[in-house]
Amino acid sequence: MANLKTKYMGLDLVSPIVAGSCGLTSDIEKMVEMEKAGVGAVVLKSIFEEQINEESVGIFKSGYGMGDAYPEAEDYIKAYIRSNTIQKYVELVRTAKSRLTIPVIASVNCFSGGEWVTFAHQLELAGADALELNVFILPVNEFTESAEVENIYFDIVKSIKKQIKIPVSVKISHYFTNLSAFVDKLKAYGANAVTMFNRFYEPDININTMTMGAASVFSTANELRTTLRWTGILAGKDKQLEISASTGVHSGEAVVKMLLAGATTVQLCSVLYEKGLPVIGEINQFVSEWMESKGFHSVEEYRGQLSYSSIENPDLYERAQFMKYFSNKQY
Ligand SMILES: Cc1cc2nc3c(=O)[nH]c(=O)nc-3n(C[C@H](O)[C@H](O)[C@H](O)COP(=O)(O)O)c2cc1C
Repeated sequence: MANLKTKYMGLDLVSPIVAGSCGLTSDIEKMVEMEKAGVGAVVLKSIFEEQINEESVGIFKSGYGMGDAYPEAEDYIKAYIRSNTIQKYVELVRTAKSRLTIPVIASVNCFSGGEWVTFAHQLELAGADALELNVFILPVNEFTESAEVENIYFDIVKSIKKQIKIPVSVKISHYFTNLSAFVDKLKAYGANAVTMFNRFYEPDININTMTMGAASVFSTANELRTTLRWTGILAGKDKQLEISASTGVHSGEAVVKMLLAGATTVQLCSVLYEKGLPVIGEINQFVSEWMESKGFHSVEEYRGQLSYSSIENPDLYERAQFMKYFSNKQY
């Protein structure tokens, strides 16, 4: 097996493959299995800011409701809180740390830099090696300026960095006007890495019953492209930026592509559900064999070799319109 060792946010990983935050990473036996299969690190299932606030501030009890922002989510959140207390989450971090030797990354799903941030210190004390912040704000008010929305992300990073010393990654979507500038500022405010991109629970419409529902929670292998484009661009522009590439990674080939584009680590989620945990070993094997076939002895030797700034024709990453395609073909 080739040497897959990777440094991610200062942590030593045996492989660049990371198990992304999901239901599987709230189950300790599954995580033990992942470690045996060769995963480099795990990102635990997220605890939600609303859960933390419920316990620390008691907002529901005060009659305030969590949700001037998201009132329709209140019932769901209440039910969720009952079965998922903060203490349970801290315990999950402790258990994961005692049963695993690989780094354990805790995860908080948040939308503000409010009171919940003090809780992060408990995760650090419980032994979390790092924290991934899954931040998502969906502005639907036409009078909200983009800078106001982006400032919320920066405030979160600033507040959390005051609370904890462990490294922090910010998991983001690609819905930003200027992703490059945005990520640059996240880093300036103290983010040690960005995880990109988050994939959302998305709405769908059933045209037979004419009702709203949800689309599949699992990605397809074709969804890799947006992540690949931005990994290549951002890693190429800033060689010091650590990117954990996520969404649409379903195979060893996809992992190699992300590393060539410049990702530091590559996260797996849907494929773990669909193919089972042994796929981690198969993917490591593929990456290892590919490295041997190319004569590489470490991931560092080829990481970013095809990033935006390393290729002769970087506009291959920028090209978004089909003009050239159509000018060459008769369609
Ligand atoms: C069932 C399920 C649960 C998830 N739960 C979380 C979560 O709690 N926190 C989080 O940051 N991402 C969560 N995600 C998103 C994944 O971590 C990942 O970003 C997304 O699925 C895209 O990666 P993939 O294409 O490999 O599936 C979840 C995804 C799935 C399918």
